[in-house]
Amino acid sequence: MKRPPVVKSSFLVGNLPDFRDSLSFFSSLAPRYGEVCAFHVFRQWRYYVQNPDLICQILTSNKWVRTPISRKLLGSFLGESVFSQEGALHLSQRRLMQPSFHRERLAQYAQTMVAQAVRTIESWQTGEQRDMVDEMMRLTLEIVSQVLFGTSTSAEAKQIGEALLTIQHGIQNDYKLNMFMPLWMPVIRFGKARRAVQTLQKTTERIIAARRAERCEHDDLLDTLLRTHDEDGTQLTDAQVCGQVLALLFAGHETTANALAWSLYLLATHPHVLAKLRAEVEEVCGARLPSIADLPRLKYTEMVFKEVLRLHPPAWYAERTPLEDLSLGEYTVPRGVPVSICVYALHRDPRFFEQPEAFLPERFAPENLSRIHRYAYLPFGLGAHQCIGNHFAMIEGQLVLATFATRVDLSLLGDYVPRVHALITYGISNGLPMTISHRQAVATRTVAADALH
Ligand code: HEM
Repeated sequence: MKRPPVVKSSFLVGNLPDFRDSLSFFSSLAPRYGEVCAFHVFRQWRYYVQNPDLICQILTSNKWVRTPISRKLLGSFLGESVFSQEGALHLSQRRLMQPSFHRERLAQYAQTMVAQAVRTIESWQTGEQRDMVDEMMRLTLEIVSQVLFGTSTSAEAKQIGEALLTIQHGIQNDYKLNMFMPLWMPVIRFGKARRAVQTLQKTTERIIAARRAERCEHDDLLDTLLRTHDEDGTQLTDAQVCGQVLALLFAGHETTANALAWSLYLLATHPHVLAKLRAEVEEVCGARLPSIADLPRLKYTEMVFKEVLRLHPPAWYAERTPLEDLSLGEYTVPRGVPVSICVYALHRDPRFFEQPEAFLPERFAPENLSRIHRYAYLPFGLGAHQCIGNHFAMIEGQLVLATFATRVDLSLLGDYVPRVHALITYGISNGLPMTISHRQAVATRTVAADALH
């Protein structure tokens, strides 16, 4: 059994201190040790891989599964969901969720996305300063809860939203603490986040029970989940619907919010990209609001959002473990040993992207796509667990950016520098204060009229 090079560390704690800055740590491994290496924390060994073909091999094989610790942590928070399931159960649950992401459903969600983006713009005053990380969190949470619950349960959806935001702050620290605890120990969670998890689960259960009792149809994602069934008649149980709803809320808003916040930052610091984006939106949409039908012509907007996801991938990290001893290139990974994949480092690997640190949307121009290795760009993962909301997220990103582009100017404070956080998701930890100015070209009246349309 050939072992890969071992990363330099101290004997007992291993590479624990390196996790103070995980992004730099993972980014340094391939240049120093090659595409596969091994490291440890308190003698718990892990492999690291940074080769697109090997990553594809791991993510697309059913012999590799999510690690028990990440399944346990996410399961303790969301209940039973696609995040904690594997194999046949995972496959059948995903199949039951799939109709919620069909093309015609997405077209319907797109209207909600634009209407909510407009509401956000209208809640801002010219001259005021807002934290765009918070604003994007609220906007994407508003969008995903509208799509899930419609307006019928807005009071409870609000409770869920507040609980989610509380958990978001707490869970990052909980996760760090529990990551290195033995598997048999119950998950440790502190006061506020613990109460928020209970609120989240109880409220979602209540909404589901009420819906089942009503028996009339609602035109939202929750209804699709409640009504959908397999060819053999299998339906999701209430507990499963609850878990999947929480998974969608959890996975579906923070990731997109981070991507949008990074987009606003990058557009503010790259005025020539913003000018090109605006010109495209003005040419395609004029003064009216963008819609899903415009997306095929909003090519540059798509390139911009894809490049944001390359440079700042919200799902920056994944891990898998083999169900038996399995080969990985010239090495063997023993059964149960976790393998880490750092999408952030992969996306900035100079072997696969020229000028990897630069923000260059043109690299995603149709004529340049063949230069990108098929598995070197993985913002939405790959294989059985690939993001179920990838089209949803791309549509949301493009439509929100297109709506903002011609309607507001957002400028940064002179000395602002973003600080990153990378734990479950990758985002900005010190907020993104921006000064707002409504643009004259499109009168607010037109915006409001369009939104009602
Ligand atoms: C820019 C935004 C987004 C990014 C970058 C993103 C990224 C990802 C990635 C990389 C995975 C796979 C993780 C793994 O392999 O372990 C994933 C899974 C998932 N995503 Fe997303 N996501 C985004 C938005 C969304 C949205 C909008 C939704 C739903 C509305 C969503 C729902 C999910 C779900 C349910 C899973 C779990 C799938 C499974 O395990 O079968 N995501 N996402």
